[in-house]
Amino acid sequence: MNKKIAILAGDGIGPEVMAQAIRVLDAVAAKFEHKFDYVEALVGGAAYDHYQNHLPQETIDVCKGADAVLFGSVGGPVELQHEAKWANCEAKSILALRKAFNFNINLRKMTLYPEIAALSPLRPDLLKDGLDIVVFRELVGDVYFGEHTLDEKNGERHAFDSGEYTESQIRSIAEYAFNVARTRKNRIISVDKANVMAMSKLWRQVVGEVAKQNPDVACSDMLVDNCAMQLVKNPAQFDIILTSNLFGDIISDEVSVLSGSVGMMPSASFSPSGLALYEPAGGSAPDIANKNIANPIAQILSASLMLAYSFNMLTEANAIDEAIKATIVAGFRTGDIATKLGNETVVGTKEFTDQVIARL
Ligand code: IPM
Ligand code: MG
Repeated sequence: MNKKIAILAGDGIGPEVMAQAIRVLDAVAAKFEHKFDYVEALVGGAAYDHYQNHLPQETIDVCKGADAVLFGSVGGPVELQHEAKWANCEAKSILALRKAFNFNINLRKMTLYPEIAALSPLRPDLLKDGLDIVVFRELVGDVYFGEHTLDEKNGERHAFDSGEYTESQIRSIAEYAFNVARTRKNRIISVDKANVMAMSKLWRQVVGEVAKQNPDVACSDMLVDNCAMQLVKNPAQFDIILTSNLFGDIISDEVSVLSGSVGMMPSASFSPSGLALYEPAGGSAPDIANKNIANPIAQILSASLMLAYSFNMLTEANAIDEAIKATIVAGFRTGDIATKLGNETVVGTKEFTDQVIARL
């Protein structure tokens, strides 16, 4: 197959982990006789340097012309947030991109590798049967795209945020999650705050309606505060978590670290148009950028999700996932996933990828 991939590497560790994901894709292309054409475009602070715009039209056009979008990460150092290049960089780039293409369904997948389970903050007895959790996060509604004002009212500082959901937004992701549940364990836990929020009350109603139409999938509701607790108390009860934008942002970070590192969780964002964007769930980590120490796993697994979901290359995607597993089994680690137990070789971003490619 011949596929055109938009490459939006962005800032921080984005470019270096992206370079490794491309090397893996090239190795897959050679092995399985595909041709991947990469079209690079600037986004985030990197785009600002060139265009004084965090998401230039040129970049949107590159995405429009591609079969899929592979995204790195955006954002700058905390201490430089006052500079125009970094101020609201994430909102102006990745959030704007999600909205522009209506990437409304976000899938984030955690994998627990037994060899590095010692890095998990959870007790070993909670992990003994393994963990494999998918978070479906709605991505274009909620307080993310409401009004945000910071002003003064009655002589004191005042803040206001608004959020909204339509039933079609909720139904769209719920139906998708139920279909995926059928390929997994037929179980969904829908997470909301229906005891307080109107958006959550609607969420629970609409998910309940979709559940009625899909009686073969067991679906239950859980309040988000309880979910945050249950994830560390009894994580094995979760297979698919289905939730709204803000709760999904928070819960997916919690889920990712149960595996031991936030550097290992890939994500896929689907739009009704058919275009999808793939990105690591973690951030741009500017403090460790350009040192060849970043963990490339989330970026490489994002490329694997792209092969599976956008190109239907299931064997190829599986080959990448298995090569990463085998690399970990063989003892190779980037610094963030070194357990300091047993026989491990700590290597750089590039050298870790060399080992993955050798095992493809
Ligand atoms: C994520 C990130 C973004 C979000 C930030 C960078 C705006 O945390 O993709 O989870 O909140 O969605
Ligand atoms: Mg987040």
